Amino acid sequence: MLEPHAARSRHTVTTTTFDARRASESDWERFCAFWRLRAAEDHPGEPVQADADRRRDVLRHDPLHDFHRMLAVGDHGEIVGSLTASFRREGTPGHAPFAPFIDAWGGVLLPHRRRGVASSLLGALLALMETHGKSVATLHAHAPEGHAFLQAIGASEKHRSVENRMPFDGLDWQALARWRTEGFAPAHGLRAEVHAGRVPYERLATLIGPMSALLDDAPTSNLARPPMRYDLESFAPWYAEMDRRGGDHYLVLLLDGDALVAVCEASWNAQTPERMHQRLTAVSRQWRGKGLAKGVKAAMLQLVHECHPEVTLAITNNAEVNAPMLAINHRLGFAPHRHFGAYQLGTDSLRAFLSTRLPATPREASQ
Ligand SMILES: CC(C)(COP(=O)(O)OP(=O)(O)OC[C@H]1O[C@@H](n2cnc3c(N)ncnc32)[C@H](O)[C@@H]1OP(=O)(O)O)[C@@H](O)C(=O)NCCC(=O)NCCS
Repeated sequence: MLEPHAARSRHTVTTTTFDARRASESDWERFCAFWRLRAAEDHPGEPVQADADRRRDVLRHDPLHDFHRMLAVGDHGEIVGSLTASFRREGTPGHAPFAPFIDAWGGVLLPHRRRGVASSLLGALLALMETHGKSVATLHAHAPEGHAFLQAIGASEKHRSVENRMPFDGLDWQALARWRTEGFAPAHGLRAEVHAGRVPYERLATLIGPMSALLDDAPTSNLARPPMRYDLESFAPWYAEMDRRGGDHYLVLLLDGDALVAVCEASWNAQTPERMHQRLTAVSRQWRGKGLAKGVKAAMLQLVHECHPEVTLAITNNAEVNAPMLAINHRLGFAPHRHFGAYQLGTDSLRAFLSTRLPATPREASQ
């Protein structure tokens, strides 16, 4: 069901909340049609998720995060823009440092841009922040108009990252074999541990702390943020989803006794079988400079290639300030696909921007 917000846009839209649990069939049809159009605008040429999968994703309960989906709706009920916001649920483990933060993302259909649609959605974001006591919103942009918009609303760019992609057919398997000999067990007296498919929960439970410590050590420039962490609670829904659609989780570890020294994590989704998603690669500080990152990456690429010879493309995200990781990825054949800026703004800046864009004439909700 689409529920009208109190605030109206100054142009020809009304902002509403998309409540997935109460949405009617026609609400879902409009929502999925809008989402397909937006996906094609922002990610041309990329695989588009089927409506049924999209619907399942939106309806799935996330034990750690609360999601709010706000829509900008035109005179005839058509959805022209959206903004989704998410924050860590109160009462979840380690919640306190997350309390001020909210993540938001969204977009406006091309023919409706520069008419204040996104600005009106920001009014709904501010209301949500005020209701939940959030003081910092983090938003990302990769397209020029996204950067221009975020700068115009007074957000500051705090961090830059790059999505890198690598075709498998350019891989030098002999060089990878050398990297593996030099930087993977039993090199340096370390022990290897490899999981292909799923990691047992009992093992995940012991790895969550040390993996979180390595994740949190990744550079994020000037981004104000809570600790980056893995949560055991997020694995059950992810694994259940992989059981349903087909997918694998890969983990390659190096250990000194029981201490975690290096990690390389990847995933594979049966719906896009030609792609491998490279996740975290990290080496603990005292073990850096010994070729361990190359060792675990080489082991991971060989593992995924053996399990899924149909994989032709690896995709990863790296901080632009992460010179060591970028250098390794460059040597493997990764090349930049697109660049992202992470922006942050507070409620005061949001209020100041919105005060310059007060609605001209309030309109009645059209739902
Ligand atoms: C970014 C985006 C959401 C803006 O939507 P919009 O409805 O056109 O934005 P608004 O009309 O409310 O623009 C507000 C102000 O932002 C600035 N702005 C927006 N788009 C701009 C552009 N293409 N070039 C320069 N400035 C721009 C302007 O100052 C504008 O005010 P003005 O039109 O009075 O000059 C839209 O371009 C989009 O969907 N882009 C793709 C998705 C994306 O990048 N999202 C990032 C935010 S999460």
